[in-house]
Amino acid sequence: PIIDRLFNADENEVRLARRLGIERTIIIPGDCDLQDRVYEQMGEQLSSALDLLLPLGHTIITVLGGEAIAKGGRYLSPKLANNRRLEFIPGRGALGENVMTQSNTIVQEMAARTHGTYKTLYLPEQVSTSAYRSLIREPSISDLLQDISRSDAVIHGIGLAQEMARRRGYDSIKLSELREKHAVTECFGCFFDDKGKIVDRITQVGLQFENLHKIPHIFAFAGGRRKAASIMAYMPNAPRQTWLITDEGASKAILKES
Ligand code: F6P
Repeated sequence: PIIDRLFNADENEVRLARRLGIERTIIIPGDCDLQDRVYEQMGEQLSSALDLLLPLGHTIITVLGGEAIAKGGRYLSPKLANNRRLEFIPGRGALGENVMTQSNTIVQEMAARTHGTYKTLYLPEQVSTSAYRSLIREPSISDLLQDISRSDAVIHGIGLAQEMARRRGYDSIKLSELREKHAVTECFGCFFDDKGKIVDRITQVGLQFENLHKIPHIFAFAGGRRKAASIMAYMPNAPRQTWLITDEGASKAILKES
């Protein structure tokens, strides 16, 4: 029945994908802001979508952090490992964030669930431009960056701009600058305004937004009514091959705006 659901998108899933300009959406009933079990079902659907789309053999999956993926990512199915050697790679350094929602922690959990392997990137999330230039020349880091560029899939969250800026220790001046620039969402270290324009960004070692379109399969994992505006602001920039795994809370609010 899960595969049926994946092939036969229902009417709202098709409408939402068209509205956002992406290949596919999967909408789980309920609102994950209100019920944590919605994350469980989102995670199971993510797993089925990965199973449907990922090649067999050695498969590299780059994973970003955040609460949504930390909660849903633990429901990947061990079945994913049938005929696949899965390797999970963190999409960027994240020291300073809560350990539970860091990509370094999430890749370990995903690998354990699916008998896969993982790599870690224990670096601060934000680095200066000069540190960035020398870090990417370190052999272990440049190897990992090469794995990221060869990824078969990326799994990422979609954050609320103000919440993400606060988590990253922005001071009140930087926070009000972001507000003045109408920053609505943050993905891949880029802050996007309500028109989808990048208005601020963090220098970070890892997957750069500009290279995302080269990855064959992209899964955005975000739900809840409070994420609706963020999803709408980010999606005009999302590569077409993006699949959004979301819930009714977010999708109803987005479709009402259309
Ligand atoms: O830190 C990775 C990331 O995917 C960010 O780019 C995004 O803003 C955030 O996580 C989403 O986190 P959450 O699911 O907690 O809102």
